[in-house]
Amino acid sequence: MNRRAFLQTSGAGVVMAGAGFAWAQTGLRPLPLIPMLDLLGGIEGRVPLTLKPGTHDFGTGAASETFGINGAYLGPVVRAKQGQTLPFDVENGIGDVTTLHWHGLHIPGDVDGGPHQEIAPGETWSPDVPIVQRASMNWFHSHTHGKAAQQTYNGLAGVLLIEDDASLAADLPQTYGVDDFTLVLQDKMFDGNGAMSYVLTGEVFEDGFEGDTLIVNGTLAPVGTTVPTGLVRLRILNACNARFLTLSMDTGPVTVIASDGGFLSSAAETESILMSPGERYEVLVDMRTVETNSLMVSFDGGGGPLGFLAGLFGGGGAMAALTLMRTADPGFSGAMPDALANLSAPDPTEATVTRSFQLDMGGDADLAALALAWGNFCGDGVMGINGQPMNMARIDEDVRLGDTEIWRISVDDMLHPFHIHGCSFRILSQQGAAPPAYAQGWKDMVHVEEGWSEVLVRFDYPAPADAPYMYHCHILEHEDCGMMGQFTVG
Ligand code: C2O
Ligand code: CU
Ligand code: CU
Repeated sequence: MNRRAFLQTSGAGVVMAGAGFAWAQTGLRPLPLIPMLDLLGGIEGRVPLTLKPGTHDFGTGAASETFGINGAYLGPVVRAKQGQTLPFDVENGIGDVTTLHWHGLHIPGDVDGGPHQEIAPGETWSPDVPIVQRASMNWFHSHTHGKAAQQTYNGLAGVLLIEDDASLAADLPQTYGVDDFTLVLQDKMFDGNGAMSYVLTGEVFEDGFEGDTLIVNGTLAPVGTTVPTGLVRLRILNACNARFLTLSMDTGPVTVIASDGGFLSSAAETESILMSPGERYEVLVDMRTVETNSLMVSFDGGGGPLGFLAGLFGGGGAMAALTLMRTADPGFSGAMPDALANLSAPDPTEATVTRSFQLDMGGDADLAALALAWGNFCGDGVMGINGQPMNMARIDEDVRLGDTEIWRISVDDMLHPFHIHGCSFRILSQQGAAPPAYAQGWKDMVHVEEGWSEVLVRFDYPAPADAPYMYHCHILEHEDCGMMGQFTVG
């Protein structure tokens, strides 16, 4: 681990006032590094991932009851390489049924970790997970039917970085914790004692659970770290249950180099990124030209009645979530890259099948009564897709192995992040328009609001009826509530 001086800066912190913001920050906490489980050098025996309850202080001074994977809160950053097979032993010590899904991986349905691969309390699930895809940032999280939202919120989530020969040889920063940082962004709610809380209400069912406090790698934002003089790489996951985040840089535009499924064809410069729950983006920050720069995060993305809250985050509604402070140490000296990957434009004429999906918010159901009745868990049967709530016993679509298809998704209300298992796709249109340049590479998430969102997708791995893939809204409360469907590939 690198030496780091943790500066206490004045002015970099954001003062937040008002009821309900007792845990907001005035100082700058050190950016925690998530422990890396590095398999790049080779794998001996099986790789344990142990899911268990823990207690964790997010920085409020109180011990929160959490779940963790090989730790008290969240899981490790697993780093592996294309061509490896990862022999995981997923041990369920949380005292309740669970599953662990590898979000973003191109793997067959029987090792995907969806709702059908339940792990009973005390049991161990031992999938051999083949890594065939290109370099990309993926993640894993609970996908337990009806309980994914609460279990993931409690901490059952981790990052899975895939490298390949090209990414390891690329002229990009890649020293973990020095010039290459993995950031897990989440929003939390804390009770008056500083303990993490999660309470389902009718409103939470409708919007999904949104906390009022930003967390970076399990610690209250804002956080800061020193970095050498050079390029710095941030690999960012939005692991919120329901909240869209708007990301920008304090100084200059955001330089995006990769999306969910791998590198963009070339770096995309943008004023801001609208990032849904489940999405990943990699950005490069040039620390040769500035002494400090900050990753700004705002809660006001994606609509919703968040204006007042955004206001509390400071003038522009954005908070300096992570501040990078340059030292005199020479760092990664490469230039901002030009070409990153060979990506041709998606060709919709390759598609032989078109499917349409209409997300459905569940109309007049009394969500408040259901929240009470279900004892803080979601039950399915309220929201749906194409008029039907998720049913574990019903296969909704059958896809032919190797086919290229167009999937079109629409909704009558709210902004939703739609996700498909077992693939990466290309976005043809998002909310009726061309996607921003940073979302034109490999993706497994697409935003759906007004107008059709269309993706071009090919399914290359089998998923039988007893281990189907899922497609769903990645607002986890919507997913648990039934906004999910199942498909086979064969
Ligand atoms: Cu990230 Cu079906 O999930
Ligand atoms: Cu997934
Ligand atoms: Cu949704």
